[in-house]
Amino acid sequence: MEGEKLDQASVLTQLRAIEAEALQAIEAAESLEALEEVKVRTLGRKGALTGVLRNLGDLPSEIRPEIGRFANLVKGTLEHALAECRKALEERLVQALLVKERLDPTLPGHSPTFGSLHPLTQVLDEILEIFQHLGFKVVEGPEVELDYYNFEALNMPKDHPARDMQDTFYVTDEVLLRTHTSPVQIRVMELKAPPIQIVVPGKVYRRDADISHSPMFHQVEGLLVDEGVTFADLKGTLQVFAERLFGKQVRLRFRPSFFPFTEPSAEVDVLCIICGGTGCRVCKGSGWLEILGAGMVDPDLFKRVGYDAERYTGFAFGMGVERITMLKFGIDDIRLFFDNDLRFLKQFQTL
Ligand code: PHE
Repeated sequence: MEGEKLDQASVLTQLRAIEAEALQAIEAAESLEALEEVKVRTLGRKGALTGVLRNLGDLPSEIRPEIGRFANLVKGTLEHALAECRKALEERLVQALLVKERLDPTLPGHSPTFGSLHPLTQVLDEILEIFQHLGFKVVEGPEVELDYYNFEALNMPKDHPARDMQDTFYVTDEVLLRTHTSPVQIRVMELKAPPIQIVVPGKVYRRDADISHSPMFHQVEGLLVDEGVTFADLKGTLQVFAERLFGKQVRLRFRPSFFPFTEPSAEVDVLCIICGGTGCRVCKGSGWLEILGAGMVDPDLFKRVGYDAERYTGFAFGMGVERITMLKFGIDDIRLFFDNDLRFLKQFQTL
């Protein structure tokens, strides 16, 4: 450092000047912005004090430690003064707000409202979990479906009377909102050879609306295909399922029925959960409540997807999630599920 005489006295004077100037500016600061400006000017990257500290190395080694100590002392003093002043300014701002906004910080805060799973989601999850324990894999398919998969491939050609019960919303003549989850049976079998063991949850649509029918509702389909599968396997599977979902005391009844894509077919009832079988309003005096349709997969379907219909057999079932949830919780109007009325939904809050 030629030419410059860096002696102890002049550096100390410089430091004191920086300190005095900064303290004065801090005291005079009327706003957080002004305060910030002082900070940058003094302690910032290009600040006055920072400059001195950076150049400590140029000082003669005899005076360096003492100057260093002093410079750090100044730095500490200024940081403290800045923090104190900031606190005071913020306090002033809050006080001003309290007056202006009539803010009362002693009032209790708004506690966050916790969401919860919809009762249908809770029951759907429970159904899927039971089947997953039994070895079924969860698969999904499209809600906007081809006429071919929804009807044709399930033995319901265009003029089939079974289509009447499943009128739906059409996008075009060949594209519709699926009326059940059964089309996924065909889609999965087209893609994969046996063995198949799947459950298919999802939304389905029908032209239907009253206290027990909604134009959109949920089903869970089941399909199991392998060598040597019998009706006894279907009964056993559904019995275990019903016991896990409704409790050990559950009683199932298989009633002969008809579906174009299963043969033989059955509708499965549970002994009325409300009256225990003596007959009531919910079971319309019969003592039984239908929960699902089922049967052995019609060999026509196997032929259609290229399976050997002599070698493989299988069972399928389809259940309505709304219906089962209504039974489980004693709900008497399906529309409650979709009204979004918190007084209803809160009764199923699990948190
Ligand atoms: N898909 C039928 C329905 O919605 C139910 C069903 C599924 C019946 C599988 C038999 C086998 O009514």
